[in-house]
Amino acid sequence: MVNLHAAPSGASNDRRPAILEPLPRGFLWGVSTSAYQVEGATRADGRGASIWDGYCREPGRIANGDTGDEACDHYHRYREDIGAMRQIGVGAYRFSVAWPRVLPTGRGSANEAGLAFYDRLVDGLLEAGIEPWLCLYHWDLPQALQELGGWANRDVVGWFSDYALLVAGRLGDRVKRFATFNEPAVFTLFGYSLGWHPPATNDPESLYAAVHHVNLAHGAAVDVLRAGVAAASIGVIHNMQPSRPLRQVPADRKAATILDDVWNRAFPDPQILGEYPASLRDGIDPHRREGDMERIRRQIDWLGINHYSPIYAKAEGASPLGFAWADAPADVARSPIGWQVDPAAFRDVLLDAHDRYGLPLYVTENGAGAVEKPDVSGEIHDVERIDYLARYLEALGEAVALGADVRGYFVWSLLDNFEWGAGYQNRFGLVYVDYPTQRRTLKASARWYAATIKAVAERVAS
Ligand code: FCB
Repeated sequence: MVNLHAAPSGASNDRRPAILEPLPRGFLWGVSTSAYQVEGATRADGRGASIWDGYCREPGRIANGDTGDEACDHYHRYREDIGAMRQIGVGAYRFSVAWPRVLPTGRGSANEAGLAFYDRLVDGLLEAGIEPWLCLYHWDLPQALQELGGWANRDVVGWFSDYALLVAGRLGDRVKRFATFNEPAVFTLFGYSLGWHPPATNDPESLYAAVHHVNLAHGAAVDVLRAGVAAASIGVIHNMQPSRPLRQVPADRKAATILDDVWNRAFPDPQILGEYPASLRDGIDPHRREGDMERIRRQIDWLGINHYSPIYAKAEGASPLGFAWADAPADVARSPIGWQVDPAAFRDVLLDAHDRYGLPLYVTENGAGAVEKPDVSGEIHDVERIDYLARYLEALGEAVALGADVRGYFVWSLLDNFEWGAGYQNRFGLVYVDYPTQRRTLKASARWYAATIKAVAERVAS
């Protein structure tokens, strides 16, 4: 097996680039962000409220009472951020459109100023030679639609497809790479059952309804994009993480299987294979109408995979879903923010997704969080992030060598940003953001990623 592991250079904390031998020609290197996490400007130019604006204001929801109000002010500083992307040398930028920025109440009249922002962003990317990868939904539902029931109301399918039509019509002459959703398993399970995301309800009925309606909305949006955008390349982004039992006992093993269905299969299985996992069918049935499975299973061109760590389940009799979320066992290797580090799990996820779904794969998120600040010289020597990225890229290389059709890799994230419940304390960026001044500084990991991209390009050319 090729050794892709970066070795210390000795001269500094920086490491040599990973040497990624088996990658296919044209392998795409990118960085990812999402609207609510970076844009800020939540009250600028007619943007409507999203469910996160209100949720952040509820006491105790977000660490330090942080909100996305300012975030990285990417709305105004996107040019500088494109400059950072150029310095790193990425070929693609994955971002999301904020639905309430372009349709302030989620439906009805479009907001011209909001659409114009995405025009500027896309044009700036294209001028810089960076391909825009546009995700329609990264969790920021318009608040007005939540008041009508949000994802639990079947009408959301029509609202989402009208929104997709608007975005396709406006940007589809320049954007060709579209994802319908980012991590639907996360926002449905956390929002409608575990209480960690808005709307923070705990009701299995609305969870099942939301799951089914998101799937239908995905299918409807694929149709709209396919019809409305010439040469569109359409995908969807799913978190995929091995679901493990907390203890090796039958009850926990069963819980881990159910969590696997809810977390890893509830969306890609119906979207790509045309059926729900068996354990979900009774829950979904009351919400299913004739023809729905055909509406959901539409031809897509690629599957985006977000991966950080494995997840754990334990049995809990009182849980209506048959599992409880568990922390990883105490003895596993962890990143500075406590997330498990297990590159072999990443390799296996890629191989499993390849075997199960048979689509070209793009890793649309992978990265490491830390609580960090510049040293006295103003540098950010994020050696642990570099080590994480090097080891995960090595695992990706192994998966490719074993036959997985992986065509690109996007680091989460370009910038430190609003990390949902953790607020600003957990930083995932290749670029450090000093929030009070909004000053950006490339971290050592940005230089390492740049060197890796360059080394791979030179190797392919030689
Ligand atoms: C993923 C989310 C992304 C970011 C990373 C760390 O689950 O898609 O927005 O928060 O985790």
